[in-house]
Amino acid sequence: MELSVIAGDITAQSVNAIVVNLFEGVESPGGGTSAVDQAIGGAISSLIADGEIKGGLGEVTVIHTMGDAFSGFAPDRVVVAGLGSAESFDLDGARSVSAIVARRLRRLNVESAATIVHGAGIGGLDPEAAAEALAEGAILGLYRFDKYRTSSKPKFDETRPVSLTLVENDTSKVSSLESGISRGQSYANASIAARDMVSEPANVLHPTKLAEIATEIASAGGLDIEILEAADCEALEMGAYIGVSLGSHQPPKFIHMTFEGDASNPDNNLWIVGKGITFDSGGISLKGGAGMGAMKGDMSGGAAAIASMQAIAELKPNLNVHMVCAATENMPGGGAQRPGDVVIAMGGKSIEVDNTDAEGRLTLADAIGFAKMKGAKRIVDIATLTGAMVVALGSGHSGAFSNDDELVGQVIAAGESRGEPIWRMPLDPITKKQNRSDIADLKNTGGRGAGSITAAHFIGEFAGDTPWVHLDIAATNMGRSVHDWEPTGATGVPTRALIQLAMDLGS
Ligand code: BES
Ligand code: MN
Ligand code: ZN
Repeated sequence: MELSVIAGDITAQSVNAIVVNLFEGVESPGGGTSAVDQAIGGAISSLIADGEIKGGLGEVTVIHTMGDAFSGFAPDRVVVAGLGSAESFDLDGARSVSAIVARRLRRLNVESAATIVHGAGIGGLDPEAAAEALAEGAILGLYRFDKYRTSSKPKFDETRPVSLTLVENDTSKVSSLESGISRGQSYANASIAARDMVSEPANVLHPTKLAEIATEIASAGGLDIEILEAADCEALEMGAYIGVSLGSHQPPKFIHMTFEGDASNPDNNLWIVGKGITFDSGGISLKGGAGMGAMKGDMSGGAAAIASMQAIAELKPNLNVHMVCAATENMPGGGAQRPGDVVIAMGGKSIEVDNTDAEGRLTLADAIGFAKMKGAKRIVDIATLTGAMVVALGSGHSGAFSNDDELVGQVIAAGESRGEPIWRMPLDPITKKQNRSDIADLKNTGGRGAGSITAAHFIGEFAGDTPWVHLDIAATNMGRSVHDWEPTGATGVPTRALIQLAMDLGS
């Protein structure tokens, strides 16, 4: 879909559909909605008077003008989008409305549409931010992962709408709307890149493929990238990560990407560390069959991390951003590690592998060890780490665990502003004891209680006192669509929060 901004009169556009909006409780529309209402003989205000249009958030009314010959109005359709109450309208509302409208336009087979910005008038949104949210909502809302369907394709034309033009009558606002649109495209396209990686099945997206995708993103964005092979990781004594990879025929790939936004201050950095298990069978501690296919998404943290670098390369914060993804499969096999094995992580800590299905924390231990060795000053790791997180927070929030109030506050704020909610969880000294091993420094499981917290404590051992946030996205990475801009399947969460964080830290 092509997105653009033009200065002009919304009623004078020769497109297939015009999109206007209405807040709840408004009886006589203003702005662009009023202009269109007048151009179609007061049809909008009469439908309001009749009670058909109420303006509730997400309500969509399609008025068929039947075109020029019939009504004297060129566009065949006027779409009235309800925005809900003006006081509670926010960027999430703008993203939602835009996603819902975009999908309706597609189902209506509309090729070209023109729209006003939602919420920049009495909604009180900054016009640039409102345009950004409109772009994000439309792109994210239209997303589908359909490449493997050869039959039973959807009944609508997926290329529709081909173009969506934002029409602004105040010429002085056009350039800020354009920057809003362009920023929204960077955020949304990165999130979509993450969704594609998550949706891709594990026979296609193995560590080698993930490394290839990262390499493509790096070369498109002018980023540095290095891929460490198993032997390189062994030389760095990443015993915990290598241990996880032993059961698989797929070679592990340790991916490190760098964006240099403040080259003269190497300490001004953020290290984004994504869990990259391209398939988690559980290993020798094999999972049950039910739902195991969802474990193709066990690289969702890595996908978000890699994809965020695409937008970071475009938006260029004044910050050095590093991305690390220790990618591997977790498979059972003759060479696989066993429950009871002891492995030594980078830096020398010994770990008793109590359960080979608690593999994410093992790979993250060495990814974080690598980041610390390279001088990380802030670390944010993202992982589909625990089933317990699904139980604790459901799909409403990703869980955050941290040793640093300031950094976790920044992460939560970044999530909030992008509609990717994050809730802080405790890291208390009582549950920390559950990771004690009888024979090694640490055990990779912490028993039944507080499963997400003990997993976070384990990773925290490797972060040490470097400011660090761990995001457990086990329930937010895919599943039911909880937001209108997240169709069923992979959500891309928290790609946009990570980009926002980098922008905030590098502003
Ligand atoms: N990748 C899983 C966690 C997971 C479960 C993510 C469900 C998404 C949905 C992780 O590697 C895992 O298996 N965790 C175990 C840890 C346990 C063995 C201590 C779990 O949560 O059961
Ligand atoms: Mn596992
Ligand atoms: Zn896992």
